[in-house]
Amino acid sequence: MQLGLHGKVAVVTGASRGIGKAVAQALLEEGCAVAICSRNPLQLDVAVAELSKKGRVFGAPTDVTDENGVKRFIDAVLKEFIVSIFSSTTPALICAAPSRRQRLIFSNVNCATRCLDFSR
Ligand SMILES: NC(=O)c1ccc[n+]([C@@H]2O[C@H](COP(=O)([O-])OP(=O)(O)OC[C@H]3O[C@@H](n4cnc5c(N)ncnc54)[C@H](OP(=O)(O)O)[C@@H]3O)[C@@H](O)[C@H]2O)c1
Repeated sequence: MQLGLHGKVAVVTGASRGIGKAVAQALLEEGCAVAICSRNPLQLDVAVAELSKKGRVFGAPTDVTDENGVKRFIDAVLKEFIVSIFSSTTPALICAAPSRRQRLIFSNVNCATRCLDFSR
């Protein structure tokens, strides 16, 4: 697929595995450079090494529920790249149990808006 993203930089949070990692891989295949984060540094290193076979990848261990952590991540990304676009995984809010929903909203939706705030 050619989405016209070649040369852009994408930030994908929660991307050491699962949907986030697949999104990062797809964006690399579109010709983007990609910045990824997740909490576990070892898993993140493994993902960065694997994804780097497809293009330029920057990773920094970050908990997206920690506002200062997100700011540090975005600052590091801005130092590494000139950021053009953002991407984030979207939670299955409707399927989630009510007790999980607020946490999913916080970690999945708020983190994307924080990334945008800190990049301005
Ligand atoms: N799987 C599905 O069928 C499906 C369908 C629709 C929507 N979704 C939603 O899509 C999202 C991803 O699903 P998935 O199946 O890909 O999950 P997953 O395999 O568990 O991957 C989650 C990723 O997010 C990271 N992560 C989790 N909490 C984090 C935090 N606080 N800060 C930073 N990184 C964090 C994890 O790494 P660390 O644990 O190391 O931080 C991991 O890299 C979820 O919100 C899920 O509800 C899933």
